[in-house]
Order: sequence, then structure tokens, then C-alpha cells
Amino acid sequence: MILLVADPLMEKAMLPRIRTLLLLVFSTTFTATFPTNAWSADDYVLDLYSTYCVACHTAPQSGAPQAFDHSDWQQRLSNKGLNGLVNSAVSGFKNMPPVGGCGECTAEDLEDLIRYMSSAKSDQGKQS
Ligand code: HEC
Repeated sequence: MILLVADPLMEKAMLPRIRTLLLLVFSTTFTATFPTNAWSADDYVLDLYSTYCVACHTAPQSGAPQAFDHSDWQQRLSNKGLNGLVNSAVSGFKNMPPVGGCGECTAEDLEDLIRYMSSAKSDQGKQS
């Protein structure tokens, strides 16, 4: 084996295989660290939430659906669907300013924020 690897031609032949193996190991680790099958809020989303949304969405007097009050959100979700809520967040809705005041939020971020705020309190322990 040592002899084979020392052979420059054989080395050339082995390299792509080693690369494939490394890629495989890397992607397996990556998938294990960031599961793609279950949604969970990441630090960036949590940061956006506590910077931009928390002011109204944890203050009942604002009239905003309250974060982690599942039933409060469920009604809106079943009326408009997630996409509908993302759209109203983007354009602003009644007393809520456009993009909830979060100029740096993309539609995707807003979707994550809505998923996060509309999740039940009992699920919070599962957020990473
Ligand atoms: C200045 C206060 C304020 C801030 C900041 C704010 N919201 Fe809201 N939001 C509201 C109010 C008030 C409503 C309820 C409007 C109504 O139904 O009368 C609301 C409703 C919503 C809705 C439901 C819209 C619908 O169509 O029913 C979504 C989604 C939403 N907010 C997302 C967000 C997100 C995401 C953020 C942070 C980026 C955010 N909001 C920040 C005040 C705010």
C-alpha cells in the first residue's frame, strides 16, 4: 500500500477518492450539527427577535399577537397561512410598521421569526 501511494500515478488516482471521502465526512458532520428535517430558531433569528419584535410581541397592550401564545397565532395562521403572514409582515399590518421595523430582515428571516413567535411555550426548551 505504501508502495502504491508512493507511485505518483496511483497517488493521482487516489486523490479524488480521498477528496470525496473528506467531503462525505464533512457533510455528515454538518448535517448532524444543523438538522435540516426539524426547524429550530438559530442565534441569528433569536437576535432579530429580541432586537426588533419583542417590544410589541411581548406587550399585550400593543395589540400584537403575543410571542409563544400559540392560540393567538393559530387563528392568523389558519386565516392567511404562513406566506400570508410573511406578506403582511413585509408590508406592515395595521399598527405594525413594515418589516416589523427590522430593515435588515429578509422575507426568509420574517418567516423564521413568525415560526418562532408562533411556536408554543412548551417547545421553547427545544430551541437551540
Ligand atoms: C411597533 C410594534 C410592533 C413591532 C416592533 C412588531 N410588530 Fe408585528 N404586529 C404588531 C401589531 C400591533 C400587530 C397586530 C396588528 C393587528 O392585527 O391589528 C402585529 C402583527 C404581526 C403579524 C400578524 C400579521 C397578520 O396579518 O395577522 C406578524 C406576522 C408580525 N406582527 C410579525 C412581526 C415580526 C416578525 C416582527 C419583528 C421583525 C414584528 N412583528 C415587530 C406590532 C408590532
